[in-house]
Amino acid sequence: MNAPTEHADIARQHLIDPEICIRCNTCEEMCPIDAITHDSLNYVVRFDVCNWCNACIGPCPTGAIDSIRNVARDKPYSVEEQFGWEVLPEQTDLDSLEVGGGDSLPDEVREITEIATAGQGGPALAPWSAAHPYVNLYAAKNPVEATVTGNFRLTAEDASSDIHHIVLDFGATPFPVLEGQSLGIIPPGADANGKPHLLRMYSIASPREGERPHYNNLALTVKRVTEDHDGKPARGVASNYVCDLKKGDKVQVTGPYGSSFLMPNHPGSSLLMICTGTGSAPMRAMTERRRRRRDRNEGGELVLFFGARSPEELPYFGPLQKLPKAFIDMNLAFSRVPGQPKQYVQDLIRERADKVFEMLTDDNCYIYICGLKGMESGVLEAFRDICRAQGTDWDTLRPQLLGKARFHVETY
Ligand code: A2P
Repeated sequence: MNAPTEHADIARQHLIDPEICIRCNTCEEMCPIDAITHDSLNYVVRFDVCNWCNACIGPCPTGAIDSIRNVARDKPYSVEEQFGWEVLPEQTDLDSLEVGGGDSLPDEVREITEIATAGQGGPALAPWSAAHPYVNLYAAKNPVEATVTGNFRLTAEDASSDIHHIVLDFGATPFPVLEGQSLGIIPPGADANGKPHLLRMYSIASPREGERPHYNNLALTVKRVTEDHDGKPARGVASNYVCDLKKGDKVQVTGPYGSSFLMPNHPGSSLLMICTGTGSAPMRAMTERRRRRRDRNEGGELVLFFGARSPEELPYFGPLQKLPKAFIDMNLAFSRVPGQPKQYVQDLIRERADKVFEMLTDDNCYIYICGLKGMESGVLEAFRDICRAQGTDWDTLRPQLLGKARFHVETY
């Protein structure tokens, strides 16, 4: 947790989550400059003393120390205020301010995020053990230029959808991301009214240390849009631009975005992942992070429900990518296989009702839904029925999941 570059009026304040803190005094002992103190109730951080040296972060046994809020620089939380807390205060609207350059989140990012997360039933927090994301480091007026280092078609040549795996390299420019975050791409040129194209958002499909580990790169999963929502032929400006990129091409990138749809760092946490099509991007990022750390035997189950038209159209989790059963419990729903009944993810979720209920009610399990808007209502209906069969009310459970930062939805 480094002190991020800050806006002139906004500062990041290092805090301690009183709900998670076990008052073990480790942080106070580790702090070389006495920035941490306590009273009979809480351990707190002095805003004017903390220099973000991070000496306290690793030793904290619960992660309570790893809490940040954006605050007005001239009005940080005082030590006295923090002594009075039973819970961390909600982030105020200041969080929308850019940490790198002084702009608020672009309107289109705000709008897209609002629509995409509507199915959660309210604003979500990041899982308590998630690493802190960097958000909005590069705005549309100061995008970072990335170089395309790979563009591979993920779906079979004769498949009906054209999905690409795009690798972008950021050279010497920092572009730190976490699994579950997205970025913006600004297509070159202008729209029919002569206005520059707005940015389009894409989920990142690679884990935090890069598509190629320890290179400053990441991967995206982009589907070429060839029809509109009503099925009429239409050419998606950004998706066609991205899918046609060649190695060596330069791309204008904004972001990163997303501060709640993040994976837990706690190795014992389980992930219930539900997606369709390119909604597999964040699931691939999280799965790949866990896969690369597999020899650590960190526990935590991975269960995936993935809907695609056919086995030939399964980005990342298809037959060629043999992930062992013991590592990930994969449930693949195919909707357009000749001679087979149409299957959607919600059908398989119902078939695995006991497992799904176990995960919905396990505090160590985090739930992620990403993909088509239409799928969301089907999945939520399946959750409702599964809960009802067990004597649990989904409408009561959902806000509880949200309160524990265990329920994350991004649909489009
Ligand atoms: P369908 O064959 O009915 O379109 P796409 O390939 O268009 O991105 O879609 C990914 C998968 O999501 C497809 O199998 C698609 O099935 C499926 N899908 C479409 N609508 C829904 C829905 N309402 N609920 C669940 N899955 C859906």
